[in-house]
Amino acid sequence: MQTPESMDETSSKLAVPYKSAGDIGQGRGVFISTYGCQMNVNDTERMYSILEMANFVPVQSPEQATLILINACSVRETPVQKVYSEAGRYRKLRLKNPALKVGVGGCVGQQEKGNLIKNSDMIDFVFGTDTIDQLPDLVSKVFAGNDDLINARFEHRAAYHVETLVRNPGISTFVNVTKGCDNFCTFCVVPYTRGREKSRPLAHVLDDIHKLVARGVKEVTVLGQNVNSYSSDCGADFADLLERIAQESGLQRLRFTTSHPKDFNQKLAKVMFRNQPIICEYIHLPFQSGNSRILQLMNRNYTRGEYLDRIKMIRDSIPNVIFSTDIIVGFPTETEEEFQDTISLVQEVGAETIFAFKYSPRPFTKAARFEGQVPEDIKSDRLNRLFDAHDKMAFELVKRYEGQVFDVLVEGFNPARGTLNGRSSHNKLTHFVGDLSLIGQTVPVRISKAFPATFRGELVLRNQDLIL
Ligand code: SAH
Ligand code: SF4
Ligand code: F3S
Repeated sequence: MQTPESMDETSSKLAVPYKSAGDIGQGRGVFISTYGCQMNVNDTERMYSILEMANFVPVQSPEQATLILINACSVRETPVQKVYSEAGRYRKLRLKNPALKVGVGGCVGQQEKGNLIKNSDMIDFVFGTDTIDQLPDLVSKVFAGNDDLINARFEHRAAYHVETLVRNPGISTFVNVTKGCDNFCTFCVVPYTRGREKSRPLAHVLDDIHKLVARGVKEVTVLGQNVNSYSSDCGADFADLLERIAQESGLQRLRFTTSHPKDFNQKLAKVMFRNQPIICEYIHLPFQSGNSRILQLMNRNYTRGEYLDRIKMIRDSIPNVIFSTDIIVGFPTETEEEFQDTISLVQEVGAETIFAFKYSPRPFTKAARFEGQVPEDIKSDRLNRLFDAHDKMAFELVKRYEGQVFDVLVEGFNPARGTLNGRSSHNKLTHFVGDLSLIGQTVPVRISKAFPATFRGELVLRNQDLIL
């Protein structure tokens, strides 16, 4: 684990307030419980890093902590109840350690603000998605005895300048390039919990990735809620950004997520193709529904036909591309026939991996107020049938990979299986037997068994290995 000093060194160009955070933590343990998307996972790393610089010590379990943060997601289901029940579980820890403080952040903190404190005597303070860098100041007030602190205002006017803070980046890591979202899909809470869309300057992103490469990172996934609407201060669009990273950073691999179909243009597809194998041939392109009436109600800004045109354009430009997608079933007023359109679109696209969810009404969103909410049992039934249909298709679809050789970037060793693991460039988690010295290298692996999201394979010996 890095000390505060070594973190300071790697972050030497940061112009951020927490550099002078001082000894707020006094060696107290901090534990962060994380839910939600990769952006929240990245935010947790940021919180740990910042708090470590203020002399808190990251710990492995809540029992060891004097500061617990719940970094919660509110995109689906019952996130607020989950936060209350988790905070409730810490009551017995507080009996043992009366100094224990519990804070809630992430999209739930942003959404609920003071309600969290009103409704739970276990929650001492709340912070938002835009105020993470102010955590040392906030927790110093909390430990000084101030109750009920809330710091969840959006910094609408502030530019988006966040150098990646990650304690142990490993082989593969994530770098935010945009934050927020201006699309206002009618089902989605993200525009309310992450605020207006902003892009980091291109030079900052490049500088950030250079530093990560210097720390041994081989693969970066650039992140944003709607990454392909990236627009830099210098006029660069997302395709320009990807190309500059691919050509200048020294990375072995570059991925990105999440793309919006309406913003996926031919320039981007061409940049992906001409920068293979650094830019991976895997695209997560959520369509949400296969029916144009539902898509319009969702405010997605494309029809089924336009989505299929995008897929065709991308396949024409990148012949070996593979797709995954997000799907919502049981959106208000969705009929059985309209749901069948979703099943048929999954099949038509040949999406090898799907992330499918039952529609869940979210606060502030338009669709939550729509007439014609679909009953829970129908949503569950549709979700099960969608997964069944997808399973049948995907198991068949991936059989073609068996016997083929793919380059796998080796990320680690799984002691339970006794195998190395890494991902192929088209994002299949691949397990195979090999020497630990291969971690961090890209090696050829012949696939012996292909499942929709994972492969089992065997290392292919190269000529030089045979001579040695
Ligand atoms: N920015 C990404 C999605 C972020 S949220 C995009 O535009 O594709 C991740 C996924 O959660 C969404 O793609 C959607 O499938 C799902 N989701 C979002 N809101 C939801 C809701 N109210 N009910 C069910 N699923 C939802
Ligand atoms: Fe939500 Fe739509 Fe924005 Fe994605 S594009 S974060 S689904 S509002
Ligand atoms: Fe959840 Fe917020 Fe991410 S709502 S999905 S943690 S953007």
